[in-house]
Amino acid sequence: MTARIAVLISGEGRNLQALIDACADGRIDGRIVVVLSNRAEAGGIARAQRAGIAVELLSHRDYASREAYDTALVSRLAAYRPDIVVLAGFMRILTPLFIGAYAGRMLNIHPSLLPRHPGLHTHEAVLAAGDAEHGATVHFVTDELDGGPRVIQGQFKVRADDTPQTLAARVMSEVELKIYPQAVAWMARGELALTAGGVELHGRILTAPVGMDAVEEAFR
Ligand code: GAR
Repeated sequence: MTARIAVLISGEGRNLQALIDACADGRIDGRIVVVLSNRAEAGGIARAQRAGIAVELLSHRDYASREAYDTALVSRLAAYRPDIVVLAGFMRILTPLFIGAYAGRMLNIHPSLLPRHPGLHTHEAVLAAGDAEHGATVHFVTDELDGGPRVIQGQFKVRADDTPQTLAARVMSEVELKIYPQAVAWMARGELALTAGGVELHGRILTAPVGMDAVEEAFR
């Protein structure tokens, strides 16, 4: 059964575009039924419109509290009956109210090798810490900020001349645009789930996130 996917964005939407492309060519057995942005100026909105996908704009500025915003978010999304909710650069701290509504069905991508560098400014943090490696992580969303069970992680070696800008570009092109469509494809096929025992991929409980070697040829 083709999965109904909701994608939440705040910015450029490069991850969104990779998901749109993978749904269009059948690598993801899913349909993006709505793209929701909290920012009217998000570049991803035009990408959704070009693909003929419904767009919902829900500005956090119109709500007095995180709870009020998340209540509105839950009801706005419910109209589209998503099976999977994909956070793709959605720069909001979510309350248990929203997270609980999609427990086990919501993925996030974070631009670091979690648990290293949760939160913002990860590329600067990698350079400040002198890390030898950097990358990105797809994880299930739980109440712990950037702390939910990890699914897949891709990494590369930091170069001596890397800057926050080059690291951001490398994280996006070398890792994120490959691992996120792959993770969503697994979920849409029912090959990825969050169980009481942890993350289950292809019938096995993961003891650690899988790496780039798990990415199928079609997503490389
Ligand atoms: C991505 O690098 C994503 O990992 C990051 O925002 C960027 C969105 O780019 N997300 C976070 O920092 C979440 N805390 P995009 O809109 O072009 O996909």
